Amino acid sequence: MDITSTRKDDIYLPEMATVVRSEPMTALERFFEFKLDSGRELGHMPGQFAEVSIFGIGEAPISISSSPTQSRSFQMVVRNAGNVTRAMHDLKPGDKIGIRGPFGTHFPVDGEMRGKDIVFVCGGLGLVPVRSAINYVLDHREDYGYVTIIFGAKSHSERLFIDEVREWVSKENVSYTETVDRGDEQWTGNVGVITTLMTDMMVDPRKTMAVICGPPVMYKFAIMSLYKMGMVDRNIFVSFERHMKCGVGKCGHCQIDGLYVCQDGPVFRFADVAEVQEAIQ
Ligand SMILES: Cc1cc2nc3c(=O)[nH]c(=O)nc-3n(C[C@H](O)[C@H](O)[C@H](O)COP(=O)(O)OP(=O)(O)OC[C@H]3O[C@@H](n4cnc5c(N)ncnc54)[C@H](O)[C@@H]3O)c2cc1C
Ligand code: FES
Repeated sequence: MDITSTRKDDIYLPEMATVVRSEPMTALERFFEFKLDSGRELGHMPGQFAEVSIFGIGEAPISISSSPTQSRSFQMVVRNAGNVTRAMHDLKPGDKIGIRGPFGTHFPVDGEMRGKDIVFVCGGLGLVPVRSAINYVLDHREDYGYVTIIFGAKSHSERLFIDEVREWVSKENVSYTETVDRGDEQWTGNVGVITTLMTDMMVDPRKTMAVICGPPVMYKFAIMSLYKMGMVDRNIFVSFERHMKCGVGKCGHCQIDGLYVCQDGPVFRFADVAEVQEAIQ
């Protein structure tokens, strides 16, 4: 039985896709590039995810890390965390996977973020979906103001997209600062949690939008740092992760306090989720 589909409107049937690139990034994460076999573009926006299926094993929601501006293929970064992601780490160019999506909400880079300064605060794997937004913004550089990227990793060997950072900072009015939780003799940069990079930061809260994505513990403290700069909840966007099954608002698996993280999120305006944030995280 053919369980794949080339119909984008068929939300339960995976479309067949082929691995174009599969490269190690860190000890736990692997970088992938895929192409849909139908030849159509995925048609995502930054912050959205797709359900990736490994035939005979299962399905997992994975963020789309490339910008829709950049290629007819799409990219993902996958941490080896369980059954599906472990099987993904064995994929080689030419192998087949299934894709459903793109699903979920996106960062409003095509809407209210235009014309604004943007602060991206990313911890660990949180840089993966945000990279899509960063590259979208930098590919439309004249449409946005100053771009600040703040990244924190557990250690220097867990930093992501190191080569790409050089391209980001080569553009006008882009700053990138990073820190690691644990330093060692090879690391000469900042050591400390991500908010240590935000203590002396100045933004104009009237024309700044912030994006936060990272491990649960980071949100509360990053948001407190943004408040100190005068930022308000409606100008802060967060991306949440929950365990998911259908990915399309039908099974209730990702539901919390009436919110379907797969459909109402994963990207939320913080003003809409401030009260449920503790429970979500
Ligand atoms: C919107 C979204 C975007 C994501 N983007 C990425 C990404 O870009 N890259 C990436 O690597 N990962 C991403 N993830 C996380 C990824 O989907 C999970 O790690 C997923 O569980 C991996 O599937 P698996 O079959 O490999 O692991 P699983 O076999 O599901 O196990 C993963 C871990 O979760 C635990 N677990 C499994 N099911 C449950 C449950 N019901 N309740 C509690 N714990 C459970 C397991 O014990 C194990 O520790 C994303 C998740 C979401 C929701
Ligand atoms: S994953 Fe099924 S409703 Fe969200």
